[in-house]
Amino acid sequence: MRVFIVALLATLALAQALVKEEIQAKEYLENLNKELAKRTNVQTEASWAYASNLNDENEKKKNEISAELAQFKKEVLSDNQKFQWHNYQSDDIKRQFKRLSEMGNAALSEVEYADFLETKSAMESNFAKVNICNYKENAKCDLELEPEIEEIIGKSRDHEELKYYWREFYDKAGTAVRSNFERYVELNTKAAKLNNFTSGAELWLDKYEDDTFEQQLDNIFAEIRPLYEQIHGYVRYRLRKYYGNEVVSENGPIPMHLLGNMWAQQWSEIADIVSPFPEKPLVDVTEEMEKQGYTPIRMFQMADDFFTSMNLTKLTQDFWDKSIIEKPTDGRDLICHASAWNFYLKDDVRIKQCTRVTQNQLFTVHHEVGHIQYFLQYQHLPFVYRTGGNPGFHEAVGDVLSLSVSTPKHLERIGLLSNYVRDDEARINQLFLTALEKIVFLPFAFTMDKYRWALFRGEVEKANWNCEFWKLREQYSGIEPPVVRSEKDFDPPAKYHVSADVEYLRYLVAIIIQFQFYKSACIKAGQYDANNAELPLDNCDIYGSAAAGEAFHNMLSMGASKPWPDALEAFNGERIMSGKAIAEYFEPLRVWLEAENIKNSVHIGWTASDKCVAF
Ligand SMILES: *[C@@H]1O[C@H](CO)[C@@H](O)[C@H](O)[C@H]1NC(C)=O
Ligand SMILES: *[C@@H]1O[C@H](CO)[C@@H](O)[C@H](O)[C@H]1NC(C)=O
Ligand SMILES: *[C@@H]1O[C@H](CO)[C@@H](O)[C@H](O)[C@H]1NC(C)=O
Ligand SMILES: *[C@@H]1O[C@H](CO)[C@@H](O)[C@H](O)[C@H]1NC(C)=O
Ligand SMILES: [Zn+2]
Repeated sequence: MRVFIVALLATLALAQALVKEEIQAKEYLENLNKELAKRTNVQTEASWAYASNLNDENEKKKNEISAELAQFKKEVLSDNQKFQWHNYQSDDIKRQFKRLSEMGNAALSEVEYADFLETKSAMESNFAKVNICNYKENAKCDLELEPEIEEIIGKSRDHEELKYYWREFYDKAGTAVRSNFERYVELNTKAAKLNNFTSGAELWLDKYEDDTFEQQLDNIFAEIRPLYEQIHGYVRYRLRKYYGNEVVSENGPIPMHLLGNMWAQQWSEIADIVSPFPEKPLVDVTEEMEKQGYTPIRMFQMADDFFTSMNLTKLTQDFWDKSIIEKPTDGRDLICHASAWNFYLKDDVRIKQCTRVTQNQLFTVHHEVGHIQYFLQYQHLPFVYRTGGNPGFHEAVGDVLSLSVSTPKHLERIGLLSNYVRDDEARINQLFLTALEKIVFLPFAFTMDKYRWALFRGEVEKANWNCEFWKLREQYSGIEPPVVRSEKDFDPPAKYHVSADVEYLRYLVAIIIQFQFYKSACIKAGQYDANNAELPLDNCDIYGSAAAGEAFHNMLSMGASKPWPDALEAFNGERIMSGKAIAEYFEPLRVWLEAENIKNSVHIGWTASDKCVAF
């Protein structure tokens, strides 16, 4: 009995000590969050200086500061381990500790981390500095990806010219950095293990806080595959008519250089030659934007206006003062790939984008401003929570508005579209165009990470790294390179995010959930009713809806303070990711394509590609 009481008292004392410790831990976290915000701000300034002005001095400075921050994070980890946080009462404190103990690549030794940073910036700057000679004028050798090469790939219908640019770009942006990429994979794996993950794949997937996430995606993907195959078959059939049987086969993968995009990730640039009803209009307001004298700044003002019309936060003075929204003309190299930046102080948020006046860029502007809105909505939270519910959420916000902006209803509202008759045929054209952007993107995005997961997990022999990439691209997207590639080539880093070590699953998740958000927002705005043909989902404009805005506010202002299903629930009451909204949106198109493909005896699916050989 006595022994029991002593034990009980000791337990009570321990419990009391733990309660006391938890109170101290709270204060510790408050200070730590502030310190991390301050240090991350300094690091972000250095990254910004480099990304907007690529030179050795800025690269060195950036890498030095990143190394310092990594060192600090190591100290934080060892401080954190002094707290018995696993046993605390508060879920919030436990969550903060857990997230603050994630180190990513900073877990590497000082020397190896420096190596990691150098390897990565070597790939990034190689990518940014690719120059290609003009196909038609060999002496002119200053063509850059943005804007010249992207424009040619989108607009040229000369398949030899397209092949030339494809090969030049992949050789220079991909093959040139094969050894860097091998080192990158090694260090990535080492870092993941230091973080107690089996591989870099598990480290990336951990951000989704759900062990079944990979499986969920496989399931959604299987649901969407039939629609994809219909689109794929139809596009191949139309390209065959356009380019002839010599260039496009009846049953094989589509040669990717014909698809209007260097990575064949979106095919909307070739809508003019494959759209279902060529004689009916395709919404393209680029010309009208030019005619009305649109400028990059005006495009950003419009995105700002859209958010504020929904009673959301307006862009800050710092944003206007510090952003780069046009390609600088002073000759410096910079990373033109559009991006949104949080500087972790109050209101200091920026975008860097070499904006051009086109319809697609107008959507990109909304996408980037969506990131900024998220930054501003969660800036009151502790540093550790100032990120998206999951990485896909962050990418989805602006896209929901872009879906709305791209509707004839909205384009008419803002005076960019007139005399447009939205009959059944025009509607199918429009849905098809959207599918070329969004549905086509899904298998592409999936393979970007499926490929890297496989490498990180050590599932692919180094001698097969290039052909494994093309095998996945063929299996999922039904496309192939225009020329035979081999293991002497190395093509994956020719995609920016592979060179720059950016996880890609976020973009796939973003597409799926943006339709979930969009559908709910449209219902809240009174703009969609499944039983009312006057209010279809694909012509829903949420501009001016404070009710839709409130749903956004509820979700965005949570940042990452709760697992993402909670954030989704705050938006629309759902807790799981689902392909239902996307299917609903495209249903009229699916029905049409199925009938049309049968009518034209179009082959569905594709044979294996022979465009990568080991040698
Ligand atoms: C680019 O960086 C260099 C070296 O740090 C600096 O001298 C130059 O002023 C920068 N240019 C711009 C436009 O910021
Ligand atoms: C440009 O160079 C390529 C390869 O070096 C060659 O095949 C092509 O004919 C040249 N074009 C012109 C216009 O000189
Ligand atoms: C990984 O696990 C080891 C052993 O359990 C532990 O000492 C170490 O702190 C852990 N590392 C991280 C980053 O959690
Ligand atoms: C706008 O948002 C504010 C703050 O989130 C809220 O208090 C207000 O009720 C909203 N206005 C409308 C019209 O919904
Ligand atoms: Zn983005």
